[in-house]
Amino acid sequence: MLLYVVLVESALELVPQQLWGERCVLSSAKNKGKHPSQILLDRSLHHTAMLKLKDGLRRGRPDLVHQAVLTVTGTPAYLRGEVKLYIHTYTNLVIEVVEGTRLPKSYFRFQGLMEKVLSGQEEEKLIRVEKIGFKELIDRIGAETVIGFSRRGVLMKPEEWVSKYVREKSVLAIGGFPRGGFSQEVLKRLHAVVSIHEMPLESHVVLARVIYDYERFRRQISPL
Ligand SMILES: C[S@@+](CC[C@H](N)C(=O)[O-])C[C@H]1O[C@@H](n2cnc3c(N)ncnc32)[C@H](O)[C@@H]1O
Repeated sequence: MLLYVVLVESALELVPQQLWGERCVLSSAKNKGKHPSQILLDRSLHHTAMLKLKDGLRRGRPDLVHQAVLTVTGTPAYLRGEVKLYIHTYTNLVIEVVEGTRLPKSYFRFQGLMEKVLSGQEEEKLIRVEKIGFKELIDRIGAETVIGFSRRGVLMKPEEWVSKYVREKSVLAIGGFPRGGFSQEVLKRLHAVVSIHEMPLESHVVLARVIYDYERFRRQISPL
């Protein structure tokens, strides 16, 4: 039994070409001694420039992705090899985190690693990047169920969604973006959309809770 956790449409990308000439982008690239194409889009640095960007409010939050990744990779289920993590991005890249890999806890180091990996400067053995969309990823995994989590889904208790939807091979899809809901492209691939609380929650909080729910379910069906 393996659980696939996919951070969907994550706000993690290199600065798009449209913004390379913007003053705030040029200055942050210069501070790092890099070309604008080699740095992460980051709302805390590029807010003004991002106002010109399509879907600007959903993009440029690598800090959220970092928090989410640390939450997943710190769970007992991940440490036992029962969870596989993928980061699907807004620009339709999929970052595969090889089983057992712990990514940097320091945000500064995470940022540096992602900049290298996304700009293809470094061949990383523990992280693989591919230009594929959510549909292709789901097809490749060949999961029996794809469970999306959203405040706008059907409010369900932990034991309810887990027993109803979790199978030998299931995908949990959680948004890696700061605002809004899943795109139609993603919604089409979900077998169910579950809400775990009436309040809108941060991705890392949702991840910690749903992985814990899964762990409890797993222990029930195969006690240690
Ligand atoms: C910061 S939220 C994204 C934007 C939005 N505020 C929302 O309510 O969905 C990050 C992700 O956490 C998940 N999420 C947030 N609140 C949730 C809830 N109450 N139940 C289930 N999933 C939730 C969704 O997958 C969402 O895309």
